[in-house]
Amino acid sequence: MSQTEYVFQNTSFQAELNRLRSIEAIFDPATRRRLLSAGLKRGMRCLEVGAGAGSIMAWIASEIGPSGRVTAVDINTRFIGNPPPNVQLLSGDIQTVPLKPDSFNLIHARYVLVHIPEYQTVLQILWRSLKPGGSIVIEEPDFSAFRAIEGSDAGKRAFKNIHQAINQMYSSKGIDPALGMKLPILFQELGAKEVVVENDAPISRGGSDIAEMMRMSSIPLKEKYIATEKATPADIDDYEAFTADPDSAAIYYATIGVIGWKEGVA
Ligand SMILES: C[S@@+](CC[C@H](N)C(=O)[O-])C[C@H]1O[C@@H](n2cnc3c(N)ncnc32)[C@H](O)[C@@H]1O
Repeated sequence: MSQTEYVFQNTSFQAELNRLRSIEAIFDPATRRRLLSAGLKRGMRCLEVGAGAGSIMAWIASEIGPSGRVTAVDINTRFIGNPPPNVQLLSGDIQTVPLKPDSFNLIHARYVLVHIPEYQTVLQILWRSLKPGGSIVIEEPDFSAFRAIEGSDAGKRAFKNIHQAINQMYSSKGIDPALGMKLPILFQELGAKEVVVENDAPISRGGSDIAEMMRMSSIPLKEKYIATEKATPADIDDYEAFTADPDSAAIYYATIGVIGWKEGVA
């Protein structure tokens, strides 16, 4: 399996922590709702893949209580301080960390598989480690869903160029920028039953939390965007202005959240 470098690997500690905290503030409510509807409850064995700054890991730990256990995996655990006592923190690549078959009641990953070209193999590894009757919740982006709706001509042009660059950056690393859209089919291929699919494509004003999070992501990645030759340094400046302009509106990307169950009795 390839060890593709995670695009934010070399971002400074504070900038990356701020970005991860902003992702958590925006998306944790929907994730918590999905995990509860996937049957999260006390005493469960759970796997949190790509725990990031750890808010969902900590929330699962409190929901399952002291009789439950969370295994949290990330290639970079630098943002997680002291995990709660019922968390086992594993620093490593989800492609290679040893996971026993049939060992988890619930598995969750958000915005992680999109960074791994061999996401299908990872899904199979996760599926194998799920107990019969267990559930899996995967939330991944579809970066191809971008659309500028309102804003200055320069802003809308920069938005289009930057988002084409984002798609190109991922494609050139062998990553599918529209992975979220494939999840329902991938779940079907795994043999998941009762699959629930949600497609969130919010329309965000400049200055909103999503626009600000995308601005924060564009700062460490700007050289990578320019290297695609889809965007110029001027586009970076115009995009920053677009994300801050309260008169702009855009779909930055969609998040597809999918829940599936493994045949059998929990
Ligand atoms: C965009 S962040 C999302 C963090 C968290 N899941 C969230 O949504 O708040 C992606 C996370 O996946 C981790 N990651 C990327 N590739 C990974 C891999 N191959 N194995 C384990 N973790 C990985 C990164 O270190 C990072 O913490």
